This record gives sequence, C-alpha cells and structure tokens, in this order.
Amino acid sequence: MVRLYLYSVISLLVAGAVFPIGLAAQNVTSALSLSSSKWIWNSATATASAQVGLRKVLTPPLGKSLMAAEIIISSDINFQLYVNGDYVGTGDRPSFGHRFCVDLLPSYNVFAVNASTTVSGADDGGLVATILVTYTDGTTDTLVTDSSWRAKGPPPPGWETLCFDDTTWPAATVVGSYGVSPWQNVVVALPLDPPVVALTNAAWVWTSPVPASGGVPVGPRAFRRTFTPDPNQIPASATIIISADNEYNLYVNGVSVGNGTNWAVAQRYTINFASPPSTLVLAVLATNLDAGSPAGLLVSMEVNMAPRGRNNCIAGVFLTTDGLWKSTAGAIPAGFQQPDYDDSTWPAVASQGAYGIAPWAQLTVTPVPTPVTV
Ligand SMILES: *[C@@H]1O[C@H](CO)[C@@H](O)[C@H](O)[C@H]1NC(C)=O
Ligand SMILES: *[C@@H]1O[C@H](CO)[C@@H](O)[C@H](O)[C@H]1NC(C)=O
Ligand SMILES: *[C@@H]1O[C@H](CO)[C@@H](O)[C@H](O)[C@H]1NC(C)=O
Repeated sequence: MVRLYLYSVISLLVAGAVFPIGLAAQNVTSALSLSSSKWIWNSATATASAQVGLRKVLTPPLGKSLMAAEIIISSDINFQLYVNGDYVGTGDRPSFGHRFCVDLLPSYNVFAVNASTTVSGADDGGLVATILVTYTDGTTDTLVTDSSWRAKGPPPPGWETLCFDDTTWPAATVVGSYGVSPWQNVVVALPLDPPVVALTNAAWVWTSPVPASGGVPVGPRAFRRTFTPDPNQIPASATIIISADNEYNLYVNGVSVGNGTNWAVAQRYTINFASPPSTLVLAVLATNLDAGSPAGLLVSMEVNMAPRGRNNCIAGVFLTTDGLWKSTAGAIPAGFQQPDYDDSTWPAVASQGAYGIAPWAQLTVTPVPTPVTV
C-alpha cells in the first residue's frame, strides 16, 4: 500500500516535471492485435493439468520510464495473469480473449502467466498475448508472446513475484504463429471499445437433460449466470445479444431489460451501470411453447469496464451461454432474477451446440435503440 502510494507520487512528479500536463490522461485506443504474437508453452507437447509458468521481464530503453500497459490475452485452456506479483485476472476459453489494464513500475516489470490445459498432446497447450506499454513521454511499444518469454512447468513457489530469478528457465517453446497451422486455427474474439460482441461461439443451452430428439416439454424455465469481475474491474457498460426458442425475459442484476418472442430475431441491448456493480447476474425466464419441439437460450455479452490506471485504459470481457449457466426445472422460484437469490443447488444447463447448429442456424440481430440503465 505505502510502497505503491509513494511510487505513484514519484511517477506523477516525474511525468509532470518532464512532460506536458494532461498527456497521461490520453485514452489508449485499442488497436491491439494478436497477429504478430505466437502461441507459446513450455513444450511442444502439452501435459494435461500440469501447471506451466510463463514469464517476461520488461525494462524500458535508456531514458524512458514505463507508465502503464494494456494487455490482450488468451490461452488454451486456463490462465492466471500476474503483473509484478499482483494478480490481474483469469481466463478459461481460447476462443475468447480478455483485455486487462495495469499500471507499471518505471523501470523493471514482470508479466507472469500461470496456465494449464485439460488435454495432453501436441498443440494442446498455448498462451497468446500482446501487450501495449505506454511510457511517461506518451510513446508506446508493443510486446508479443514469443521465444523471448521463459517457460517452466511446474513453476516453483514465488515464481510470479517481481524478485524471482528466472534466468535458469528455458526459453518458451513457440507452438505456432497466431492464426496459422500446425496450431489449431483458433480465432480469438477480443473485447473492444466500442463493443464487437457477436453470437459466434455462444452455445444454445436449455435445462438439463435435453433428450436426444431435441424435443423438450412446454413451459417456462429459469436460467442464471453470475459473473464476478477480476480485481479492480468495475463494469461500466455492457452489450447483450440474446434469443430464445420460443420466448425470453431478460434481467440484469434484478432489473428487467427486455423480452423477445421470435427466436429467429435476436435483440442487442446496451446496458449502462448507474452504480458500479461488484457482481453481474444475468437471469432469464425462457419458455418453450411447442410440445416436444426444440427449445434453447442463446446469450452473448461483452462488458466494458470503467477506465482505469494512468492510461485511462478500458478492460473488457465476454460472457456467453455455456456450461457455467444454471437452470432449474419445475416451478419458477420467486425472486430468481434478483442478484442475491441463492442458486447454489441449481444444476448446470445442458449445452446443445454452438451458434449455427440446426434447427436454428443463423439469426438476425436487431439493436434495441434505447440503452437500459441498471
Ligand atoms: C477518453 O474517453 C472518454 C470516454 O470515452 C472521453 O469522454 C474522453 O473525452 C476521452 N479523452 C481523450 C483525451 O480522448
Ligand atoms: C496457478 O494456478 C493454480 C491453478 O489454477 C492456482 O491454484 C495457483 O494459485 C496459481 N498461481 C500461482 C502463483 O501459482
Ligand atoms: C416486453 O417488452 C415490452 C417493451 O418492449 C413491454 O411493453 C412488455 O410489457 C414486455 N412484456 C413482458 C411480458 O415483460
């Protein structure tokens, strides 16, 4: 606490003394891309569940002082990101990237990532990231994942800290270039400002079990997904695309956002958070109207966080319908849409496949013009 405070005072003094006032308030524009980054790991052949530590030490060129970083990152499958020993955030799906914002120390910084995969084999573990660093003079540099990172599995205790010595660690193995074989051609969706959310990779879900025929009983079902943002991330706005076969009512943190009655036409809602929420709870009442017919719920959401740090950087994340959603059959519980409703006994939903599957195929998306304040 004290160290950080002192540090920010010093760096403000440094920045203010040398550079025009207001420069540090510049917004970072997210022109970041993964196209020059490599998928890296500690070995070309991954071992399921084995922890891999990946590190990159960053020091500025002579005469420059580091200020802040914007990080886009994804991994196959799980990662935890630490900067200078502090936990920044986590991700668990290679197809959805994250955008993180951190302030940096003036001269010596460590990016450390803890990652693991669930499948053993070639091309089964990978981390990809691009880091835009801003100096106190307003200039920037871009750092990518490549063989200049170091990797070791499993990493010893304290491996993520600033003072840990990784000079005996081997260079990271480049498993493949981003978007290029032999690495699986994963296209990572990156959260942006303004949002770019699409239905791609969201799953059609329904209350488990869904019979092999796909036909489910008529009636309403309640669905919930609780999301706790990574530390220091405060949701400012969100964009939600949603459709349900046959009907839905959508609630965010207990507030009614809208409804839809035609699964072929998804709605796109804009949400503004009036008071910064510490948790987001998406709740949906979805109803199947046709006996023995398919039923499904499809949701994609992109959240932009309040600007943060010395570069006013906006972090972002995607949430989609997947196995982390919960649903209960039977009577709709009173108050199920309220954020504090206890869904701990609800089972996970059944996934029926990604957006694009039959019988729903491609949907039309229509924007709902008026933003909803939650
Ligand atoms: C930064 O972004 C905010 C919010 O989008 C905007 O109000 C502000 O004018 C921007 N500042 C600069 C320097 O571009
Ligand atoms: C690394 O990952 C594991 C499993 O996800 C976690 O328990 C651990 O705390 C992580 N962090 C460090 C610094 O090892
Ligand atoms: C559905 O939304 C419309 C506004 O678009 C509203 O007038 C109506 O009351 C809503 N219906 C339900 C059942 O919530």
